[in-house]
Amino acid sequence: MSVDQELAGRLALVTGAGRGIGLAVVHALAERGARVVATDLDIEEPGPYAETVQEQVVTRPLDVTDPEAVEALVGETEDALGPLDIVVNVAGILRGSPVVELSDEDWAATFAVNTSGVMHVSRAATRRMVRRGSGSVVTVASNAGGIPRAGMSAYAASKAATVMFTKCLGLEVAADGVRCNTVSPGSTLTDMQRGMWAAADGKDERAAVRGVIEGDLASHRTGIPLGRIADPADIADAVVFLASDRARHITMHDLYVDGGATLRA
Ligand SMILES: NC(=O)c1ccc[n+]([C@@H]2O[C@H](COP(=O)([O-])OP(=O)(O)OC[C@H]3O[C@@H](n4cnc5c(N)ncnc54)[C@H](O)[C@@H]3O)[C@@H](O)[C@H]2O)c1
Repeated sequence: MSVDQELAGRLALVTGAGRGIGLAVVHALAERGARVVATDLDIEEPGPYAETVQEQVVTRPLDVTDPEAVEALVGETEDALGPLDIVVNVAGILRGSPVVELSDEDWAATFAVNTSGVMHVSRAATRRMVRRGSGSVVTVASNAGGIPRAGMSAYAASKAATVMFTKCLGLEVAADGVRCNTVSPGSTLTDMQRGMWAAADGKDERAAVRGVIEGDLASHRTGIPLGRIADPADIADAVVFLASDRARHITMHDLYVDGGATLRA
């Protein structure tokens, strides 16, 4: 089958699908033929999706921190649209601050979305996938989960936990034909990234991008060897690969898409 329509006939669910990387993932899945349930906080029909894919996309509001809402949505989706083949966890939040100033609320909120949210959605989906003997879960983590970053402890720890959770889940469900992988992006041009720059010093976007690419020795941050910041589509492409049958022999993998920023050390 051509890569063009390799996901024809597949049903996918995406969290955090309303903007940024999630929005790009919805487009990438639908452009390859999948039907997509696009979920986010407060999302409404028809969502922010291109007209070319709108027929394949339904939108549903979902807060991933609410386990009952997750369970209900996954059940209702399968009753109405059929079995889920692909689940992509993209929802995430970033609240940066040095540990000595970190509030209990920010720590808890970060883990509630980035770690528990991924657990709720992955658990509800794989419980059903194992009965059918097939399925693929892809979780968007972060390269901050693999290398220390100043001012990002809660976020980095929540992502590291998510990666290990996904590997353990992948081990448990492998014999039932279900694959579980993570994609760990580096700096990617989205509202989350722009929020970090705004919090730093309101630099204009071009100067901020240059700073990310060059790195900053004072904060022990290497730059990006490939010399560019990621576009959300770069991350979406890696997600689609891991979700597809081209990755049928890949599970428990953590794929870094960061232009070499972590030197893969
Ligand atoms: N942008 C980057 O540089 C970067 C780098 C590494 C990893 N990531 C990860 O990629 C993912 C997407 O990031 P982005 O840059 O597109 O961010 P973004 O802030 O643009 O989008 C995140 C989306 O998640 C949704 N969301 C937040 N809390 C939610 C909840 N409780 N339930 C459901 N949805 C919720 C938001 O409404 C939003 O639509 C996140 O998990 C993020 O941690 C981003």
